[in-house]
Amino acid sequence: MKQFTGIGQTFEHLRKSAESGLSIGFVPTMGALHDGHLNLIRRSKQENDLTVCSIFVNPIQFNNKEDLAKYPRTLERDSLLLEELGCDIVFVPEADEMYPESEPVDLNLDFGMLDKVMEGKFRPGHFNGVAIVVKKLFDIVQPTRAYFGKKDFQQLAVIKYLVKTLNLPVEIVPCETVRDPDGLAMSSRNTRLSASDRNLAPGIYKVLQKVRMEAGNISVNELLTWAVRKIEEHPGFRVEYLEIADNETLMPVENWDNLARDVAFVAVFVGDVRLIDNIELF
Ligand code: PAJ
Repeated sequence: MKQFTGIGQTFEHLRKSAESGLSIGFVPTMGALHDGHLNLIRRSKQENDLTVCSIFVNPIQFNNKEDLAKYPRTLERDSLLLEELGCDIVFVPEADEMYPESEPVDLNLDFGMLDKVMEGKFRPGHFNGVAIVVKKLFDIVQPTRAYFGKKDFQQLAVIKYLVKTLNLPVEIVPCETVRDPDGLAMSSRNTRLSASDRNLAPGIYKVLQKVRMEAGNISVNELLTWAVRKIEEHPGFRVEYLEIADNETLMPVENWDNLARDVAFVAVFVGDVRLIDNIELF
């Protein structure tokens, strides 16, 4: 596996690969890799000649300095995992080169309502920061396909929109959420849960599964009220939002008229750790 840091070097290397007809699969990450990330790498390897993983803790998508400072950085371990899987290139850019001081990023992209609801509402500017870095990374890596997890369903919707509106020549491949055997969606934040919170955290997904079972049987509102109460039964669990929304527009729904498009989304504070999850109701 090759490790690149320089943008120019990475661009040139991959441009030559593309010119010689190789397809490039790309998995952008912020590192602290777990099986959710590794699954994206495996999928990319199956579908492309070359697989590139980027590891970059993108400062402009954090609206909380402490969250950025606390973000786990485990490059050595990550590299070993990628090497074992047969990833071809790991790209680890420097913040100074991604965001040169001489060229401050003051780009404000328009995603309509996609970045105003749910995560967008509680983390203002977050998706703008994600979209800017993903666009920069696409320009450098020039991938044929890029792999994103449904764990971050709203992020996936924003990226799809970005690619469509800017006509970017890349295929976005959504991948299923990978969970621990007890149902908890894998996340680099899970390591920050206390032992007792870790034991209770799978309850979040159990509630989402129940929401899926009951969808269509009782009103949307009644179901949401029940679900919030059920999650908050656990001491120290606080629901930030729980919504049922359309899988493309992400607008909240009030009835079951389009159940085949509905997704339940949740963000929960477990102590001071913020977890998100979702489930497709169809
Ligand atoms: P990060 O949180 O490191 O996630 C990288 C990719 O892994 C994303 O596409 C995310 O959806 C996927 N992923 C994370 N946990 C997963 C799980 N349990 N199952 C399936 N996929 C999972 O998302 C980001 O980084 C950043 O915002 C990024 C896109 C790299 C831009 O900075």
